[in-house]
Amino acid sequence: MGEEEKKILFSAVQPSGAVTIGNYIGAIRNFVKLQEEYDCFYAVADLHAITVRQEPAVLRKNTLALAALFLACGIDPEKCVVFIQSHVPAHCELTWVLNTVTYPGELSRMTQFKDKSAKHAENVNMGLMDYPVLMASDILLYQAALVPVGADQKQHLEITRDLAVRFNNRYGQTFTVPEPYIPKGSGAKIMSLADPSKKMSKSDDNPNAFVTMSDDKDTIIRKFKRAITDSGNEVRFSEDKPGVSNLIAIYGAFTGKTVSETEKEFEGRGYGDFKLAVGEAVADALAPVQAEQARLLKDKEYLNSVLKRGAESAFRAARRTLSKVYRKVGFYSGE
Ligand code: TRP
Repeated sequence: MGEEEKKILFSAVQPSGAVTIGNYIGAIRNFVKLQEEYDCFYAVADLHAITVRQEPAVLRKNTLALAALFLACGIDPEKCVVFIQSHVPAHCELTWVLNTVTYPGELSRMTQFKDKSAKHAENVNMGLMDYPVLMASDILLYQAALVPVGADQKQHLEITRDLAVRFNNRYGQTFTVPEPYIPKGSGAKIMSLADPSKKMSKSDDNPNAFVTMSDDKDTIIRKFKRAITDSGNEVRFSEDKPGVSNLIAIYGAFTGKTVSETEKEFEGRGYGDFKLAVGEAVADALAPVQAEQARLLKDKEYLNSVLKRGAESAFRAARRTLSKVYRKVGFYSGE
């Protein structure tokens, strides 16, 4: 397939606090595979992050750490465009225009807006409400055909599609209407270690419910030792064993072993042995990523140069779309 035939793919992660192994398996690790097949744009979504309160110094640190993590996981800046969202002003500029084809009702109905408004009742701001329009701008600016998203972002992709179609109908063909991308054989959804009916989330009040990409080996093993298992003592994947099944899924995601291989490996051994093995497998898999991230964070000059190059490439692609949009809506170009 020729270069120009590759489909464009966009995704982003917010630099708001720790990245869990769920984010890694569900998103970042797939980004690495996708870069071989698509023209990928990967952003650190700092503009999105400030829709909830952030400590400025912490946000700055998390932003660079997430960019370093992208690279440490194997995202190759020679193969795709890696950048920080706020480095490309077109994201905000397109958001403004798209706001004029967005209805407040469709934003206030968004599940995530309702959830976050309840959670951050002291800070329900316009940015929180406009979050999906900024996300639509991220995607539409690059004419992305594909967006890998988890279940929690599906609604935002739907509104992105609605806005693209609405704008195209009103002003003429401008945007590619993106499709959600569900990776084939994608890793299982990783659930909380404390309550396997809930998705693993860094915002869980219980720090033992999630493992982050920067947890050290002892912490990881301790968290897996405490993980909720089910009654009985058999390591078997089944609906009535959600805790053990989650651990089997995690073990598989980090070792490549199938469910039946894992069941066989732990036949006749109890939960204790199994939990220790899962913790060790996760810790061993994360160790090289953590080391590489630390190395990159010490080489700020290199990181900055990658991010500058990424922002320049993103800017060029984004500007083509933004100019088209400005022309379509009737802005006088001055030329
Ligand atoms: N909202 C996404 C999340 O929290 C992050 C994000 C921002 C994103 N812009 C995007 C994801 C565009 C996909 C496409 O997970």
